[in-house]
Amino acid sequence: MLASRGTQMELITDSVLPGHLLHIMASVLEKLITSVSSGPAQPPTNKVTVVGVGQVGMACAVSILLKDLCDELALVDVIEDKLKGEMMDLQHGSLFLKTHKITADKDYAVTANSRIVVVTAGVRQQEGESRLNLVQRNVNIFKHIIPQIIKYSPNCTLVVVSNPVDIMTYVTWKLSGLPKHRVIGSGTNLDSARFRYIMAEKLGIHASSFNGYILGEHGDSSVPVWSGANVAGVNLQKLNPAIGTDQDHENWKDVHKMVVDSAYEVIKLKGYTNWAIGMSVADLTESLVKNLSRVHPVSTMIKGMYGINDEVYLSLPCVLNSSGVTSVINMTLTEGEVGQLRKSAETLWKIQKDLKDL
Ligand SMILES: *[C@@H]1O[C@H](CO)[C@@H](O)[C@H](O)[C@H]1NC(C)=O
Ligand SMILES: *[C@@H]1O[C@H](CO)[C@@H](O)[C@H](O)[C@H]1NC(C)=O
Ligand SMILES: *[C@@H]1O[C@H](CO)[C@@H](O)[C@H](O)[C@H]1NC(C)=O
Ligand SMILES: *[C@@H]1O[C@H](CO)[C@@H](O)[C@H](O)[C@H]1NC(C)=O
Repeated sequence: MLASRGTQMELITDSVLPGHLLHIMASVLEKLITSVSSGPAQPPTNKVTVVGVGQVGMACAVSILLKDLCDELALVDVIEDKLKGEMMDLQHGSLFLKTHKITADKDYAVTANSRIVVVTAGVRQQEGESRLNLVQRNVNIFKHIIPQIIKYSPNCTLVVVSNPVDIMTYVTWKLSGLPKHRVIGSGTNLDSARFRYIMAEKLGIHASSFNGYILGEHGDSSVPVWSGANVAGVNLQKLNPAIGTDQDHENWKDVHKMVVDSAYEVIKLKGYTNWAIGMSVADLTESLVKNLSRVHPVSTMIKGMYGINDEVYLSLPCVLNSSGVTSVINMTLTEGEVGQLRKSAETLWKIQKDLKDL
């Protein structure tokens, strides 16, 4: 009985049913649709890959999808269940998206022909771990990731988000062999967005109407460029020459402290930060994909600028178009601001020079 039932089941599942179903489906398809062209498939023109499907990677992916920036999105990670789950969850939103193809695999073949690759993979700092130790652990991970990306998308532009972002961008540049203009770090793009938000709130205007940059190293040692802060071209330093200094009785300097502290505060409250970094990466992707030549504060190779002679990545205002970083805006910085940049460069190089296997 059992055996015969088994045989019958096999018969149904393996031959009768699928063939039968296929026949019905084929005929519905045939009745519904008349094929016109069957030319060879063209490779995608705006494919974006996100490496790492953690909170930051997924926020980047969703932000890029919702801005209609790619015709194909590929996700890569090593945790296969999570990866497949995230892919399916996004695919189920296809009705609301204009990206027709969303793929995922742990094999980098899925990333082939990407125009932009956003790298968010990496480990987080453990309690008591030195920065060098963290960086070295991430270098070991990137040694696997970056050559795979380049193998399948030799013409891509890399956007590095993993922390410490300035060092990891340098590491990526070294491992990729790409020209420096095609390896970009998200850098102080987010710090600047936070700065503009907080300043704009204080002034009662929209963040896009307060112009100001935070440059240099992403995080604690970032440099707020008060000398350039303006609204509608009105320079705030002209209105208050002490702005941003310890002598300023209005204490605008606190805004930079708020920018630095706000990341820690969000992490304390929700465990990580992801939405704002995701949106800021999508904004960079838009300039890259659409050849916009907009200026963004992103991490770029600054050897030879401001008297810095080491190969370090730090954030400066960069023009981004489809080729990557086309130019750097030569900021009129104060001596103090240049000094801070040089100090950051020194700190980063001290760590970079001791990295193994680069
Ligand atoms: C990369 O770009 C070069 C030069 O434009 C082109 O010859 C080559 O086919 C491209 N490679 C891929 C994989 O798209
Ligand atoms: C990109 O934009 C620049 C102007 O900023 C233009 O000269 C160039 O032709 C554009 N490239 C493409 C491929 O459209
Ligand atoms: C980006 O801008 C640079 C400098 O203006 C230009 O040489 C390059 O062709 C542009 N890239 C594209 C794809 O148009
Ligand atoms: C950038 O501007 C400064 C003055 O603000 C000037 O000293 C320097 O030579 C300029 N650099 C370049 C590359 O033009």
